[in-house]
Amino acid sequence: MRTYLVTGGAGFIGSNYIHYMFKKYGDDIRIINVDALTYAGNLENLKDIENKPNYCFVKANICDKEAISKIFAENDIDRVVHFAAESHVDRSIKNPEVFVQTNVLGTAVMLNCAKAAWENADGSFKEGKKFLHVSTDEVYGSLPDDENAFFYETTPYDPHSPYSASKASSDMLVKAYMDTYKFPANITNCSNNYGPYQFPEKLIPLIINNALQGKKLPVYGDGKNVRDWLYVEDHAKAIDMVQEKGKLFETYNIGGHNEKQNIEIINIILETLQEMLPDSDPRKAHINQDLITYVEDRKGHDRRYAIAPDKIKRDLGWEPETYFKEGIKKTIAWFFEHEDWMKNVTSGDYQKYYEDMYSNR
Ligand code: NAD
Ligand code: DAU
Repeated sequence: MRTYLVTGGAGFIGSNYIHYMFKKYGDDIRIINVDALTYAGNLENLKDIENKPNYCFVKANICDKEAISKIFAENDIDRVVHFAAESHVDRSIKNPEVFVQTNVLGTAVMLNCAKAAWENADGSFKEGKKFLHVSTDEVYGSLPDDENAFFYETTPYDPHSPYSASKASSDMLVKAYMDTYKFPANITNCSNNYGPYQFPEKLIPLIINNALQGKKLPVYGDGKNVRDWLYVEDHAKAIDMVQEKGKLFETYNIGGHNEKQNIEIINIILETLQEMLPDSDPRKAHINQDLITYVEDRKGHDRRYAIAPDKIKRDLGWEPETYFKEGIKKTIAWFFEHEDWMKNVTSGDYQKYYEDMYSNR
C-alpha cells in the first residue's frame, strides 16, 4: 500500500485533496497528514475521515526537523505532497517573518528529511519516491490588462508580495534539489482556488459570509484586478495526475481558464445568493449591491493573474472541469450546509483579525 505524507492537510486545499484521494483510491492508499494547526488549520475539515484506519494525523511544525525526520524514520513514505504554508497575501504584508519561516525554512526541512530518507548510498534515490511541491502563480508577478498575456512555465519569476517572494524562494530550493541531487520532485504553480473549507480571509468566502450577515463587502482599489479562479477539486485532481503521470523534475502550471475581475466575482456571488435563498429567507432583503464598499487598495496589489494551462493539458490530459457558475453554486451550497463551520472559524481570533485588517480601510 502506497503511503502519502501530506503537509498542511488541515487547511483549505490540503483537506480537499485528502478527501479527493480517499474518494479516488479508497483503502488502497495510506495518508499521514502533518499540520501545525495554525489559525488556518482545522481538524473539523477532516471529521468524516478521522477514524479511517489508513489515515493518521500528526500535529507538527514543518520547521521542526526532529519531528519531521521521526515521521520519515517510522514510516516508509512513498509520496510527499507539500501544501503547508502561510498562504494569505494581506497577512504577509503585515507580518512577513512567519512566511519566511514556514514557507522557506519549512520547505528546506521537508526537502532535507525526504532526501535523507530516500537517498541510496550511491546518491541515487529509491525507486518510486516522489515529492510534489504545491506553489502558486503569484511567483510570476503581475500581468497587464491584456487578454493575450498569460503565465507559462517559462515565464521568469517576479514576485512582489512577501508571500509570493517566500513561495518563489521555496520553489527555487526545490529546483536546486532537483538540479543538484536529482531529487525526485515536481513543482505545480496554481491559480486562485475556491470551494468548500476555504478560510474566510480570502475573497470568495469572505464575501459570501459578509453578504449573508449584511456586512459591507470590501473591494480593494478599483475592483478591476483579475484573478483566474479554479474549483479546488479540479486542483486536487491535477496534483494527483502530476504525481501519477507527470515527468519528474518538471513544473506544471494549473489554471482555471476563468479570469474575472474582483467586482465581477462579487456581483456573481450576490446574484447567486439571491437565486439560491428561498423567498422566505429574511437575509434576501439586504443582499444587494449597496453592500459593496470600495476601500484602500492592497499595497503592491498585483493587477492580473492568468495561467495558460497548455502544458498540463497537452502532456497529461488535465483540464478544468467545473464551470464557475456551477462551482460557485456548489461552494455557496456547502456554506449553507455548514453554517456551524463558519461560526466556529469566525469566532475568537477571526474577529480580531478582521478588526485589524479592515478598520482603517
Ligand atoms: P491554508 O492557509 O488554507 O492552509 C495551510 C495549512 O498549512 C493549514 O492547515 C496550516 O495549519 C498549515 N501550516 C501552516 N504553517 C505550518 C507549519 N509551519 N507547519 C505545519 N503546518 C503548517 O492554505 P491553502 O489555501 O490550502 O494553500 C495550500 C498551499 O497551496 C499553499 O502552499 C499555498 O501557497 C498553495 N496555493 C494556494 C492557492 C489558493 O488559492 N489558496 C493557490 C495556489 C497555491
Ligand atoms: O493566485 C494564487 C493565490 O491566490 C494563492 O497563492 C494564495 O495563497 C491565495 O490566497 C490567493 O491570493 P490572492 O491574494 O489572489 O487571494 P485573495 O482571496 O486574498 O484576494 C483575491 C483578490 O481579491 C485580490 O485581488 C485582492 C482582492 N480582495 C481580497 C480581499 C480579502 C478584495 O478586493 N477584498 C478583500 O477583502
